Amino acid sequence: MKIKVLFLLINLASISFLYSQNSKNNPLEVKDVTVEYKTNPEGLDVANPRFAWILEGNGQNRFQTAYQILVSETKEELSSNLGSIWDSGKVSSNETNQIDYNGSTLKSNTTYYWKVKVWDESGQLSNWSTTAFWSMGLLKFHDWKGLFISHNVGYDKTDKYDSLYLPPARYLRKSFKINKKIKQAKVYSTALGLYEMHLNGEKVGNDMFLPGWTDYDERLYYQTYDITEQLKQGDNAIGAIIADGWYAGYLGYALLVRLDKVREFYGVNPSFMCQIQIDYEDGSSDIIPTDLSWKASTGPIIEADILMGEVYDARLEHKDWTLSNFDDSSWKTPKVYTYPNGKLTIHPGNHVHEVETLKSKAITEPKKGTYVFDLGKNIAGVVKLKVEGAKGTKVTLRYGEILKRDGNIQTENLRLARATDTYILKGEGVETWQPKFTYHGFQFIEVTGLSKKPSLDVITGVALSSIDTNKSTFNCSNDINNILYRNIQTTQKANYFEVPTDCPQRDERLGWTGDAHTFMRSATYIANVAPFMTKYLIDLDDAQRWYGAYPNFAPFSYSRQHQYSPAWMDAGIIIPYNMYKVYNDTRILEYLYPGMEKFMDFQEEASTDFIRPPAGNNWGDWLSVNEDTSHDYVAAAFYGFDAKLMIEIAKALSRTDDIAKYTALYENIKKAFAEKFILDTGYTTEDTQTTYALALYFDLYPNQELAKKGASRLAEKIKDNGYTFSTGFVGTKHIMPSLSKYGYHDLAFKLFQQTKYPSWGFSIENGSTSIWERWNSFTKDESQNSSINSAMNSFSHYAFGSVAEWMFMYAVGIDTEEAGYKNIIIKPAITKEMDFLEGSYKSINGLIKSSWKWKKNTIVMDVTIPVNTKAKIFIPTTNIKSLKADNQKIGSDENIKFLEYKDGLALLQVGSGTYSFSAINKK
Ligand code: BGC
Repeated sequence: MKIKVLFLLINLASISFLYSQNSKNNPLEVKDVTVEYKTNPEGLDVANPRFAWILEGNGQNRFQTAYQILVSETKEELSSNLGSIWDSGKVSSNETNQIDYNGSTLKSNTTYYWKVKVWDESGQLSNWSTTAFWSMGLLKFHDWKGLFISHNVGYDKTDKYDSLYLPPARYLRKSFKINKKIKQAKVYSTALGLYEMHLNGEKVGNDMFLPGWTDYDERLYYQTYDITEQLKQGDNAIGAIIADGWYAGYLGYALLVRLDKVREFYGVNPSFMCQIQIDYEDGSSDIIPTDLSWKASTGPIIEADILMGEVYDARLEHKDWTLSNFDDSSWKTPKVYTYPNGKLTIHPGNHVHEVETLKSKAITEPKKGTYVFDLGKNIAGVVKLKVEGAKGTKVTLRYGEILKRDGNIQTENLRLARATDTYILKGEGVETWQPKFTYHGFQFIEVTGLSKKPSLDVITGVALSSIDTNKSTFNCSNDINNILYRNIQTTQKANYFEVPTDCPQRDERLGWTGDAHTFMRSATYIANVAPFMTKYLIDLDDAQRWYGAYPNFAPFSYSRQHQYSPAWMDAGIIIPYNMYKVYNDTRILEYLYPGMEKFMDFQEEASTDFIRPPAGNNWGDWLSVNEDTSHDYVAAAFYGFDAKLMIEIAKALSRTDDIAKYTALYENIKKAFAEKFILDTGYTTEDTQTTYALALYFDLYPNQELAKKGASRLAEKIKDNGYTFSTGFVGTKHIMPSLSKYGYHDLAFKLFQQTKYPSWGFSIENGSTSIWERWNSFTKDESQNSSINSAMNSFSHYAFGSVAEWMFMYAVGIDTEEAGYKNIIIKPAITKEMDFLEGSYKSINGLIKSSWKWKKNTIVMDVTIPVNTKAKIFIPTTNIKSLKADNQKIGSDENIKFLEYKDGLALLQVGSGTYSFSAINKK
């Protein structure tokens, strides 16, 4: 380690000498400062939060040689450059992320302000970053003072299969007085169930579906909000609405398969706990917790269930119920509910929030009085209803992803998700309403009960998601592929909903492990999924079975006989590996490592001579088309991949013994696998597209020569199949990268642009605005549609969207050599099948851009590399002498270094900056 540091210092010193002449450059600018991946997060509970920033600067070859971080308890101290809590001093380092806080012990309920400045390659100092902050939540159990309270609505023991039990939401409130001047006020809140909190007539924060979904017996998340501005000296009131949510409501397909339980998997009654913590200017403080001085009642939300929908009777509204002068004398004393066993901790992910509002595009009337609104695209979320009418008028909203031939919405594919919302008017002019505790997957909304023909503004779509899909751009000469990119974004947004769900519409919406890992790397290119996936990995770790397997889905709210499946449970290795590779995150690896070891032990126990047999559910290559890959093959192949990734994970954590252990395991699996499944011809014993894709992607061929033969067979099979897939969820993701890895770019692009079934283009030509569960979930040709199983046919399923990984890693050509995009690889898969292709990706080190276009037989590549990173750029050329960089020299002593020319690829090395290259490339 010491040697490494010394080397780095010598390196930095010599580099800064080299560039000290380069004084025309402005100082670097420090942007996007984050703590634990978030901008100004409230309520952290880690002892050493991690800092990160992004650097910007003009010119080329810019980098950081040192940084200094200051942390203070007050803004004033920080503005006089006093790091009273931590002054890192000048740290010689080029790191800009995953930097551990290393100051005084952080205290509960305290806000910390921080800033950072950096030194560049010539020793120039930047300005300080903007002042940022984070706050610590309640760190000790005894900091919590509140009770879990609720309103007792009784319990209806209605037959659980034949009719639904949908209890009303509960309302809780309290008025209170503040007599002194407030310095700072925070509220810490949680619920077993879902809650929405209000203060003095306003919702607290923008987050929804709080406190989030966990296996509640293991852990329960709480939220922290700064309410200093919302509270006032004098009279105040706080209120909370709570509903069943994931805790007590209907979940997944339990009702469909008639499990012994169909709801209440974690508890029967939702309950709420919070405490307002006020610090006064005079140095004293107060806590206002949930207790028996609160008041409880029901209200207008008379049904609220995630799957089934919401019923709102506006006649039952409590006007101004979270204002201090509300008369709650008719409300009851709340009931105290059991305190949960789970750990109370902060939510590490992102909360569900509104991400887009969509105006209705069209209204049809397939039956008299039944209006169908079209939002133009498939989303997950709710609608805002705007109506006017007589008191007691009942407006019913139903949701569909597609229309039947007769123009009515298709709801068969929702299975037993009732997905129906009802609004009962109070009759007081224009009324607007939006449900709070349910969501749907839909494009079309059927509205009945309106007294007159509606206008478009009666329905506005509100898309909800936990993530913002703003990390990349993609554009190329074929519009089908541009639509595909948008459809992937849309589907990721719709399904990254508290957990990575399989689909947002039917009675499922579970955190399926197979879907999640298949799409993981794709997801990282489209959004910052570090917090979201950290949360999911904690779910997965909590849900790990006692014998070592990771389950089929997490949180694992209920179990059937088979709890796991090969190619699904491997999420427990594949997702953490990608968290490391993309975000350089070793902390999550440390956290999960004991579980991962246990999982590897479980696989070893189950294997005979390094072949893992199929066991559990065995979905194989789920939804493959006319070509099945055996469960034996899938189970054995994924075991090999897990071992391969474990070597990388052990390396990242410097676990020397384990590096050796997993290297030996991987070699053994590879050998056994090849003996069993790979022939001397390079063919696999089963000869399906998926068998080749897996063996090539997972590096299971015993040598490169055979691997090349395998790749060539895969290519041949695809051609023989009319340039279409035969693969399902498992195979599809691995085909495109395997083709490109072995040089079959043209073929990959043929598949990419294909419009014949099965292909992405086929669904786009048939009108998709999202990624479908099946290649042919819907066809315009009616005669083709009859074979589709309408109950198991989601129009928002991201698994086939896993091609985004190939789109960015190969087509745009942006990858990372080691973890964290510090040494970037720009290696686009250039083909004559397209005229141009361009994309960008905002990595944890900043914006990377790559584009290529043909000018007759010359290829032009434009590249942007962020400050503080280096890139290896591969340029295909048949004439190395023709290689040019716009206005710049290429050579061994130049900013653009020439490294080698091999296999028709020129390899250059550059530092940060924007570059344009051209080279002749004749076929
Ligand atoms: C889900 C899939 C999931 C699968 C397991 C389905 O019901 O929708 O996406 O991976 O079950 O085969």
